Amino acid sequence: MPAHFTGRDGEHGELIRVLGRPERLTGATAVAVISGTAGVGKSALALQTAHTLTERFSSGQLYVNLRGATPGMTPLTPAQALTALLRDLGTRPCAIPEHPDTAAALLRSLLAPTRTLLPAFRAIQGFWSTCQAEGAGQRVGGW
Ligand SMILES: Nc1ncnc2c1ncn2[C@@H]1O[C@H](COP(=O)(O)OP(=O)(O)OP(=O)(O)O)[C@@H](O)[C@H]1O
Ligand SMILES: [Mg+2]
Repeated sequence: MPAHFTGRDGEHGELIRVLGRPERLTGATAVAVISGTAGVGKSALALQTAHTLTERFSSGQLYVNLRGATPGMTPLTPAQALTALLRDLGTRPCAIPEHPDTAAALLRSLLAPTRTLLPAFRAIQGFWSTCQAEGAGQRVGGW
């Protein structure tokens, strides 16, 4: 997070509005996607938002770098991303399911009773479509 975050009031406010809603109003997981060209300030905005929402997500924050559009790095596969998240939650390696569907189900079960924010960085193209298919609500950015 930049030492002195400035501007982006509209986008920051929109993210807080979407992600900060009480669960009783959303009835589901809230998802917001920040999109934009390289270096425009996506990560800074995400980190600033996560900082603002610290109290709202009292169980903690779970960061993952999906490594999309990163020179010299291969994007994480869904299975690799799920494995990393489950490991971060303390799941023993031998208890992590190999099949992504099963791993995703375990991740959902572990997170369901919690209030956890999951900032995912460097998502690859197509991520938004996947989020929409999962019932996501809001896209922020596109500048
Ligand atoms: N609102 C802001 N206030 C102050 N500094 C900012 C702001 N937004 C971005 N910066 C600074 O600009 C630089 C680039 O921002 P950032 O890394 O967030 O961009 P990005 O869109 O995530 O880049 P990439 O596409 O490479 O992931 C960083 O040094 C960051 O600290
Ligand atoms: Mg970034």
